[in-house]
Amino acid sequence: MLKAGLDRGSVVVGLGGGVVTDLAGFVAATYMRGIRWVAVSTSLLGQVDASVGGKTAVDHPECKNLIGAFHQPSAVLADVATLATLPEEELRTGLSEVVKHALIRDAALFDTLEAEADAILAREPTVLENVVTRNVQIKADVVMADEREGGLRRILNYGHTVGHALETLAMEAGGRLAGAAVTHGRAVALGMMAEAQIAAARGTAEAGVVGRQRALLERFGLPVRLDEAPDVERCLAIMRHDKKARGGRLRVILPEAVGAVRDVDDVTDDEIREALCGLADDGAPPKNG
Ligand SMILES: NC(=O)c1ccc[n+]([C@@H]2O[C@H](COP(=O)([O-])OP(=O)(O)OC[C@H]3O[C@@H](n4cnc5c(N)ncnc54)[C@H](O)[C@@H]3O)[C@@H](O)[C@H]2O)c1
Ligand SMILES: [Zn+2]
Repeated sequence: MLKAGLDRGSVVVGLGGGVVTDLAGFVAATYMRGIRWVAVSTSLLGQVDASVGGKTAVDHPECKNLIGAFHQPSAVLADVATLATLPEEELRTGLSEVVKHALIRDAALFDTLEAEADAILAREPTVLENVVTRNVQIKADVVMADEREGGLRRILNYGHTVGHALETLAMEAGGRLAGAAVTHGRAVALGMMAEAQIAAARGTAEAGVVGRQRALLERFGLPVRLDEAPDVERCLAIMRHDKKARGGRLRVILPEAVGAVRDVDDVTDDEIREALCGLADDGAPPKNG
């Protein structure tokens, strides 16, 4: 950029999935202490999640999401026509966050997802446009109320406390967990199932929440169980490490009803152990006890 003579009036355009727009935003945030940038988002996850909220970052082998900056783009362009070529697995990854948004905030969107699941999977542009628009509204609403993640923004972490631990565990094992490939979207789906189970076991979730979530995730081809229980103690260690990195208590977002969640900070290790073991079909005993 220096060689090309870009100056304070230049604009960075990120065209691609979340990796590209996160990188473009981070570069724009740091070049000459911040120049303007535009996100042209081409993945479903990028359109409904990564390009909304102003968080920019680069991945580092030692950590995820620790090197970054808050730097809002001047504009975001999300053309659902680009999703026609998105690989199936990447569509699923985005759908996992879409289910999350509906579950935490918007019961009517959840109804739409149930009613239009086939059209969504067939990538019908008008349906996708409606789904993307409503997801952007949900994330933008939450972020506008709490840009720096002091409170409300944490509800966006639904499924991610457990999900991130499962994703890390899978990464340590070459991307697989209990014999199955685990992407971010798949890990979040499993994380939402585990976290919903904690709420169900506490009796704080309305009847039907877990079942509707499970059915919708399955329709979108996302996993809701594992063939064997993950390494529960390792998962807990990862969660404690994440918590330390954030400098706070272990917080879990628990669903109360479709469209409503609660930010809870008194979930015990035993509740997490039970939920993780509950992910295994046959109730096999967890590794390491
Ligand atoms: N800033 C935020 O708030 C935020 C939120 C969530 C995720 N993220 C970040 O987003 C990244 C994940 O984004 P992602 O899921 O888009 O992954 P990605 O950018 O890696 O894209 C997924 C794959 O799809 C390809 N692709 C993208 N658009 C395509 C299209 N239209 N047609 C065909 N192929 C296409 C990409 O080349 C890539 O191989 C992670 O780095 C994550 O940390 C950021
Ligand atoms: Zn996510």
